[in-house]
Amino acid sequence: MILKSLLVTGGAGFIGSNFIRLFLDSHKEIDLINLDKLTYAGNLESLRDVESNLHYHFYRGDISDASLVGRLFHEWHFDAVVNFAAESHVDRSILGPQVFVDTNVRGTMTLLEAAREFGVDRFLQISTDEVYGSLGPSGKFKETTPISPNSPYSASKASADLLAKAWDKTFGLPTLITRCSNNYGPYQFPEKFIPLMIVNAMQDKVVPIYGDGMNVRDWIFVEDHCRAIETVLFNGKVGEVYNIGGSNEVHNIDMAKMILARLGKPESLLKYVTDRPGHDRRYAMDSSKIEVELGWKPCRSFEEGMAETMKWYLQNEKWWGRIISGEYQNYYRQQYGKER
Ligand code: NAD
Ligand code: DAU
Repeated sequence: MILKSLLVTGGAGFIGSNFIRLFLDSHKEIDLINLDKLTYAGNLESLRDVESNLHYHFYRGDISDASLVGRLFHEWHFDAVVNFAAESHVDRSILGPQVFVDTNVRGTMTLLEAAREFGVDRFLQISTDEVYGSLGPSGKFKETTPISPNSPYSASKASADLLAKAWDKTFGLPTLITRCSNNYGPYQFPEKFIPLMIVNAMQDKVVPIYGDGMNVRDWIFVEDHCRAIETVLFNGKVGEVYNIGGSNEVHNIDMAKMILARLGKPESLLKYVTDRPGHDRRYAMDSSKIEVELGWKPCRSFEEGMAETMKWYLQNEKWWGRIISGEYQNYYRQQYGKER
């Protein structure tokens, strides 16, 4: 693939902003167009350091807006699409599933249709290990594991995966899918487990643990995920799914205790609360396909990744402070004249 123009959606979010920073750093001649609706989770502060890059172009808008999406495809002649844009938080999907279907399903279909109409060399759908459902105490998810989502969020992501597959099989659109485990790192919205733990503990606030705290997640540093996406974008085989994991399973309670210990905070901040409905017990990814076929593997040890993440939250209180105080919402209202 000769890549001159890349559409990235959801680039103002956690993984998207990390991806854009890494990508622009290593591909100096490629135009990168970031289409983001700037929902509560989108934050242009996360991209301040790239906004003067002449190859970076930001458009605010909804991936479900077919006329806007069509206009961008027409104007930029994208060679490839990486679709990060999504509603991403499981708890919110339980409280209000509609927007998850609107963005994650209908939005993805809108992008697939535009890509079909205008033609692209590659359409990479960013998916999640959650589409596979929940594991017992042993075993790992492989690409051949049947999908069996349990939450409205994971059901919407599984639906998007099926659409991407269908557009490949039926219309010959060159789609690829990556499914990654839980990411952690800088710029993650402080509603997700790790940044919530850090930010709450730093303020001596309670750290909520759902259920018995024995759920397991397979944590990966966000830059390792971004490198895997770059690898699949350029070298992955069209029509394939690639699992991406950190080979780093941790019980939630152990993660919380480790964060408190690193911050020098007491375990009395831990509070067991009512479990998340339908809470998946354990995720673990078998990443051998991408490792063997494409030569990717995670570089950052959990020790290094956590040290870097905690340092970032300690040094960037302004970034998360504006979010939790509502100041960013006010700033946004002034900038754009409407509510987020
Ligand atoms: P995030 O919530 O931090 O960011 C999502 C971004 O998408 C935000 O910038 C938001 O404004 C934008 N967005 C939402 N709806 C939109 C719409 N209709 N049109 C345009 N933009 C819209 O999410 P994240 O954690 O960075 O996740 C990014 C992608 O990676 C998602 O597709 C998610 O399912 C997937 N994923 C996340 C993880 C993880 O651990 N965070 C793991 C595996 C896969
Ligand atoms: O596995 C990949 C997925 O990881 C992504 O697809 C999702 O977009 C992302 O949000 C994440 O989903 P999880 O539900 O696993 O992540 P979350 O950070 O919400 O929760 C991680 C674990 O911590 C989960 O077992 C629930 C638990 N938890 C979470 C919160 C917010 C708590 O015990 N207390 C909390 O306050």
